[in-house]
Amino acid sequence: MKNVFKFAEACLYSATIDEKLALTHQALHALEIGQLSLISEQPAMPIAQVKFPDKPILLPPRDMPKRKLGSAEGIAAFFHAIAHVEFVAIYLAWDMLYRFRGMPDQFYQDWLRVADEEAQHFELIRTHLQAMHVNYGDLPAHSGLWDHAKDTASDLLARLAMVPRCMEARGLDVTPAIIAKFRQLGDDSSVTLLNRILTDEVGHVERGSYWFKFVCGQQGLEPETKYRQLIKQYYQGGKPKGPFNREMRIIAGFSDAELDWLENTNL
Ligand SMILES: [Fe+2]
Ligand SMILES: [Fe+2]
Repeated sequence: MKNVFKFAEACLYSATIDEKLALTHQALHALEIGQLSLISEQPAMPIAQVKFPDKPILLPPRDMPKRKLGSAEGIAAFFHAIAHVEFVAIYLAWDMLYRFRGMPDQFYQDWLRVADEEAQHFELIRTHLQAMHVNYGDLPAHSGLWDHAKDTASDLLARLAMVPRCMEARGLDVTPAIIAKFRQLGDDSSVTLLNRILTDEVGHVERGSYWFKFVCGQQGLEPETKYRQLIKQYYQGGKPKGPFNREMRIIAGFSDAELDWLENTNL
């Protein structure tokens, strides 16, 4: 019998990129054949020690290469940025599972499935990039994606509010317009790839909403009030900017009241 937290630890603290991908798929396979223990035997290691590969080098967003979709270089830079988002998303899913103990089994099963989908997204994008003669790590990447994880390492509700219900939810807002742009360019393989990812991401945000409400219920908190409070506390600048994809966010577990609050700059 293998242990889910051992897989998580290897993926977060030691493995190479390819080992990480393989271990993530192995962990899900072990779960599916009933060979994965979800019992925690040791406490989590500190988040500060989580290890990222030497490449890509990480830069603040203002120093990132331009990624306008008008040129081949711009398209490659765009997909390199997406590859990095998906790569960090593997860590974010594993860390959700790894750091917050004492939850129902379903919680660990859900985030392991998310980690596996993120690994698939990363692999699909990496292959897509390789067809453009670019490898993941060839270009610099955005340094900020892990910050919200570090900020929320000791608060599960804050983690759920900031990662699936803020960062990943942002993907639901912006991706449809990007897909439309690739459709305009006649780039069918990019359209197919981004559509596949978008569909999965609705599920990730939905799991975030589900567990957010679950933990609020356990703690006797009203989830909409708590969400607003956590966003104000943890989101730099007070509130994410729209426009918001109301239709997809509703499917992903946001309420109309939450969306009204996000949209209304005065609230
Ligand atoms: Fe993803
Ligand atoms: Fe995701």
